[in-house]
Amino acid sequence: MKAALINGSPKQENSASAVIVDELKSILHEDMRLTEYSFREPVVTMERMREMSECDVWIFAFPLYVDSIPSHLLSCLMQLEDYLTELEDKEITVYTVVNCGFYEARQNAPALDIMKNWCRKCGLIWGIGVGVGGGGMLPMLREIPSGRGPRKRLSRALAELADDIKSRTAAPDLMVKPGIPRFLYKIAAEMGWRQQIKKNGKDVKDLSIMV
Ligand SMILES: Cc1cc2nc3c(=O)[nH]c(=O)nc-3n(C[C@H](O)[C@H](O)[C@H](O)COP(=O)(O)O)c2cc1C
Repeated sequence: MKAALINGSPKQENSASAVIVDELKSILHEDMRLTEYSFREPVVTMERMREMSECDVWIFAFPLYVDSIPSHLLSCLMQLEDYLTELEDKEITVYTVVNCGFYEARQNAPALDIMKNWCRKCGLIWGIGVGVGGGGMLPMLREIPSGRGPRKRLSRALAELADDIKSRTAAPDLMVKPGIPRFLYKIAAEMGWRQQIKKNGKDVKDLSIMV
């Protein structure tokens, strides 16, 4: 079975979506022929769309932007929609993992619904949607082995998703809580923001963050 693994984060490095893509890749690579795509620009080439249409499965991983889909990715989805409308005999199943900065994974539900509607419009088969909360901490967990400590919940959910991808099964959305308590996530996020503000030559009060 052939699968396209699509990272929809615009980030070149330190992307939470890349952590998710890498973990899925490590689980799926023995059973599937995987091709990775990075959608950082608002354009998809015809060649890429043609290649992707030869896959049985598309797996998207992207960040939640303003409760929705990042605009560059939305633009790519619209181009794919035009391409797919012309295509006959397509049997592509779509799986989607959306991660967000908020602690609560359910914030991702509207973006997953948009993906479901897009699939219906394009004549694609919807598989499963996964919402991941606390995405901001994922790049920091890179060095922690999958399945361990604060990665445990995410690893368990991705393993479950991978099993369903291999059998091209459809199932209800899966919401993944971060692997640390909410108050710790908040403290870590605020520390990170303070560091970033200083790095950019500004002061904490410039962004009206409570100290
Ligand atoms: C422009 C922009 C809009 C965002 N909107 C939301 C949002 O509505 N809700 C949320 O929980 N996180 C939001 N975030 C946070 C990202 O979803 C979060 O940082 C995510 O982990 C980034 O994933 P990535 O590293 O794969 O790009 C936003 C981030 C940016 C840059």
